[in-house]
Amino acid sequence: MPFEMAPPSAHALVEAMRGLGYTLWSAVADIIDNSIAAGARSVRVDFQWDGPGSWIRVTDDGHGMGEAELTQAMRAGARNPLAIRDATDLGRFGLGLKTASFSQCRRLSVGSRRAGLPAAFRVWDLDDIATHDEWRLVTEPMPSSVPLLQPIQDMPQGTIVLWEKLDRVVATDAEAGDARAEDAFLAQIARAERHLAMIFHRYLEAPSNPLHVLINGAGPQNRLRGWDPFMEAHPATSRTPEERLRYGQVEVRVQGFILPHRDRLDERASELGGGPEGWVSQQGFYVYRNRRLLVPGDWLGLGHPRRWAKEDAYRLARLRLDIPNSADAAWQIDVRKSTAAPPRPLRGRLTDLADRVRADARRVFLHRGSYGPRAPSPNLQRAWTAFERRDGMAYRIDRAHPAVARVLAEPGRSTDAVEAMLRVIEETVPVHRIWIDTAERDGLAPTGFSATPSDEVRSVAEALFNDFTTRMGLSDDSARALLMRTEPFNSFPDLVASFGTRTAGKP
Ligand SMILES: Nc1ncnc2c1ncn2[C@@H]1O[C@H](COP(=O)(O)OP(=O)(O)O)[C@@H](O)[C@H]1O
Ligand SMILES: [Mg+2]
Repeated sequence: MPFEMAPPSAHALVEAMRGLGYTLWSAVADIIDNSIAAGARSVRVDFQWDGPGSWIRVTDDGHGMGEAELTQAMRAGARNPLAIRDATDLGRFGLGLKTASFSQCRRLSVGSRRAGLPAAFRVWDLDDIATHDEWRLVTEPMPSSVPLLQPIQDMPQGTIVLWEKLDRVVATDAEAGDARAEDAFLAQIARAERHLAMIFHRYLEAPSNPLHVLINGAGPQNRLRGWDPFMEAHPATSRTPEERLRYGQVEVRVQGFILPHRDRLDERASELGGGPEGWVSQQGFYVYRNRRLLVPGDWLGLGHPRRWAKEDAYRLARLRLDIPNSADAAWQIDVRKSTAAPPRPLRGRLTDLADRVRADARRVFLHRGSYGPRAPSPNLQRAWTAFERRDGMAYRIDRAHPAVARVLAEPGRSTDAVEAMLRVIEETVPVHRIWIDTAERDGLAPTGFSATPSDEVRSVAEALFNDFTTRMGLSDDSARALLMRTEPFNSFPDLVASFGTRTAGKP
């Protein structure tokens, strides 16, 4: 077939690439993704205000690139988006370095160094490209950039990404002494910091080998702390069991969280909990790809009969959704890595799950007292205790509960056998089943015996009461008082009050 070559105009294409809709923080996050993919343990981000000479620089200690690799990395579409990626790779389209950088600046310089090799430098200058309408990749640093790229010479390996001519961050007519422009610059940085703390929180707060991100300095006070959207460490946060959903070869994991009512948080925690964009905005699904947050709170187009919008009543509902990078196409991950859409086969299940989390969150928001972990009565002897384990929540039968203690204390009883039985029960609590059943009944968990004392409750309570008075030698009054502090009998004060007196009055 006859053909002619019709390559895109470099000038036009590069200007189009600038308009993908990055924010400062999403652009910086894309650069940090590359650092993480290159195995960096430490990433330094410097923002320098200097009017039109302002710059932003990201320095990592990853494996770096040699000359040829760097040239390849600087090309738009460096890698085939359809290629299978390493499971830990945060990239996809081979565009991020360029599109993210060009969205913020007109000059992108990269200095990089592989261990044992000399440093390599490449520069895209959009003014240069515009003048010549050619993809001219400059192969040495611009004179004015040399001091800013200099640190690479002293690093054993790593990469420096430098943005200058920040026409999208700094107003083009801003002078270095312009206080208003400087404030606007600083405000954008503060916002970027809050977002980075959220996007990378699972890297920043990883229990082993956490990523260090340093902002504008190398001291301990410059270290970025992660922001956990789920307040997992807070005792008043409730959660659904983690669910694994499969479709095709891919498994995703999802877990719902109902955050504490404001009354349960001090002022600082309440402010912090709202996250970078505030409580209402931060509700919904949090989609993570390889632990990197893509979507910071969104209902993902789910909802019935209409799509859910972000509403005040659901501000305490947040769900964590983990997807692997092999699911990119199915989830329609975009170049900016800021949107994701659940594949059709999963939408029904995710909607059901979110529906329940939303209902619970609404209840907590409206009346805190009626749901969620209540302030435990300090003296109440509970039958079950819940605690956090590495792999999730675990539930234990309290050996000190009088009904349990009684059996364990019985002379001649094999404690091993009882202990073995209790452990089996504890390890097989049908948490998931209970959770579904509870949610289906609109959150009214059937706890303890039913509300009106039956003969069964009476006989169990009576047996305990007799144990208290005979084996333990308590007075009737003390035995009643103890029973009133013992779950679930504390719910039956009239029944408890009738013991002893009634027995005594029997003919
Ligand atoms: N900080 C870095 N350290 C090492 N290699 C990098 C770094 N940044 C970019 N690269 C290389 O450049 C390539 C292109 O990066 P990018 O344009 O962001 O696309 P993608 O991340 O989708 O591959 C990466 O695949 C990687 O090989
Ligand atoms: Mg990338």
